[in-house]
Amino acid sequence: MKLTNNIVLITGGASGIGATMAERFKNMGNTVIICGRNKEKLAQAASTMGVDSVICDISSPEQCQSMLNTISKNHGRLDILVNCAGVMFAYDFANDLDTATKIQTEIEINAIAPLQLTHAALPLLKQSKAPAIVFVSSGLAYVSYFATPAYSGSKALIHHSAQALRHQLKPHGIQVFELLPPITDTPMAEGMNTGHFKKMAPSAVIDELINGMQTGKVEIAAGASKQLHFMSRLAPNFLFKQMVKSFT
Ligand SMILES: NC(=O)c1ccc[n+]([C@@H]2O[C@H](COP(=O)([O-])OP(=O)(O)OC[C@H]3O[C@@H](n4cnc5c(N)ncnc54)[C@H](OP(=O)(O)O)[C@@H]3O)[C@@H](O)[C@H]2O)c1
Repeated sequence: MKLTNNIVLITGGASGIGATMAERFKNMGNTVIICGRNKEKLAQAASTMGVDSVICDISSPEQCQSMLNTISKNHGRLDILVNCAGVMFAYDFANDLDTATKIQTEIEINAIAPLQLTHAALPLLKQSKAPAIVFVSSGLAYVSYFATPAYSGSKALIHHSAQALRHQLKPHGIQVFELLPPITDTPMAEGMNTGHFKKMAPSAVIDELINGMQTGKVEIAAGASKQLHFMSRLAPNFLFKQMVKSFT
């Protein structure tokens, strides 16, 4: 697809993969809007990159609708919606004092919010000549990571939803892409035990996304996520055990 002159909304665009993507889309000649919850971080990132910003907690349908109303008023359409915002919690399921809250927060932000925002954005996307949606899931959509009991499941849900929506939204002319990053060098992965994996640079993840979108590849497993995909098909139990070994 053509990646210039688009109106692009990137949730979680103030840091990490989303910020690298925002900068790249901006430099390719697109109008970029980023959103996030932290006012100072968002304003700082938007002014550094020269992009627009809207404060929005994507787990609030009211805040999402208000953000879409602003985009509608300012631009009249949305060409690319990137669902990138996410959180990851590693915890001991049996002993953590906050297990119940962590389960709920992770599923709300990673799984429910991107789908509800996508649904709410359909009228604006339909105003575009070539609309597209990008879901950022994870290589962990292919295999469960034992340290994050709900995270892999939340990303697996997005993986399956992306596949379903690719089919359902085709008659509406909306393309659906999925980016599955491996462990990537961002604030989310700061201080994380990376096992035998080396963190991928966010710019290299975005290189693969852009290349995939331009060549019509819809499921973009970046870097080591390709091996996770292959092994999850070939030997899923072996892969899970290797992940346990690698991260313990
Ligand atoms: N880093 C990795 O190793 C890795 C690997 C695979 C997949 N991913 C996925 O890639 C995506 C980007 O993560 P990242 O690594 O770039 O981490 P990051 O730097 O922590 O970025 C996540 C962004 O999401 C925003 N966010 C979180 N909850 C939000 C909410 N409720 N509403 C709006 N914005 C929210 C955060 O901003 P605020 O806190 O200001 O809201 C933050 O800017 C995530 O979906 C993550 O699961 C990351």
